[in-house]
Amino acid sequence: MPYHKRVIILGIESSCDDTSASIIENGVIRSNIISSQKVHEMYGGVVPELASRAHQQNIVPVVDLAIKQSGISKEAISAIAFTRGPGLLGSLLVGTSFAKGFSLAMNIPMIDVNHLQGHVLAHFIKKDEIDLDKPKFPHLCLLVSGGNSQIIVVRDYLEMEVIGQTIDDAAGEAFDKCGKVMGLPYPAGPVIDRLAKEGNPDSITFSKPRIPGLNYSFSGLKTSFLYHLRDELKINPDYIVEKQADLCASLQKTIIEILIGKLVRAAKETGIKEITVAGGVSANSGLRDELVHQAVKNSWKLYLPELRFTTDNAAMIGITGYYKYLKGDFASHEMVPFARMVINE
Ligand code: KG4
Repeated sequence: MPYHKRVIILGIESSCDDTSASIIENGVIRSNIISSQKVHEMYGGVVPELASRAHQQNIVPVVDLAIKQSGISKEAISAIAFTRGPGLLGSLLVGTSFAKGFSLAMNIPMIDVNHLQGHVLAHFIKKDEIDLDKPKFPHLCLLVSGGNSQIIVVRDYLEMEVIGQTIDDAAGEAFDKCGKVMGLPYPAGPVIDRLAKEGNPDSITFSKPRIPGLNYSFSGLKTSFLYHLRDELKINPDYIVEKQADLCASLQKTIIEILIGKLVRAAKETGIKEITVAGGVSANSGLRDELVHQAVKNSWKLYLPELRFTTDNAAMIGITGYYKYLKGDFASHEMVPFARMVINE
């Protein structure tokens, strides 16, 4: 690895409904500004056209604030890293176009980042120069977000292999869609997490998938949840209101059992005991508790991400950009964003 005295990366994230910018200096976080778009709440999900418009409004003030808060001058930035995909095309275009303009204006390279790799590498963001307890290679990462549920073997910073993934919905979608039919606001994941604490996780049984190998499926659970509500509402129209906490606790328990079952199996099959979890759903308190329990049971070395790095943020894009910078892996100005991308693309 070449010796670089001071590498300063400006990271940009705009793949969905969060506009974010971050300054990372030699792997250490100096600032991380996130502007979450509220405009989607009334629609019960992200509206792509509204998302890209909000990114356009937010990106300059968000970047400006990230640079100011870092205490580092704009001229000292070594490169700009941006999310190339996967995500909403219109949203990705805003970040990509901004990166091109900034790169040309400041005469610095730009670095394209795969959003999924960013989630995985969020574990390597250092709080300060002495923050050195980081996952070793190879490790297994359970990546669970609104769009993905994957088990990944992470062999090096930029060398990853997916060994299991969802064949339909993601875990986050299961939380959000089941929450929607209960009338909860979007995104329902954090609300279900909170309500589940008051409920009995064993009160209702939902069907669990029987998918071979290390793959996941969550669409059957969604249907099972929907049919359960339909049947119960026929008997008692107030069923959802009266049983809300139990419904949340039982749903959450089922999602966690599905996720953990395959992760335990993946750890056994690969012999890897260094485990990480990433993505929005990794903020779930029930999942975190169960991971700690399994770590003790299976002698894993477990790394739980800080809550602020679980959902979309630019610090994870900045840290990925940092490792790509060290490899001299830069993007051309002709590069276009991709709505669909796999982790090792
Ligand atoms: O990683 P993320 O911010 O966006 C994607 O890249 O998809 O993940 C968003 C997802 C949403 O589905 C949201 O409901 C879920 O993460 N989520 C949670 C919690 N916090 C966020 N799900 C369960 N429990 C939580 N505490």
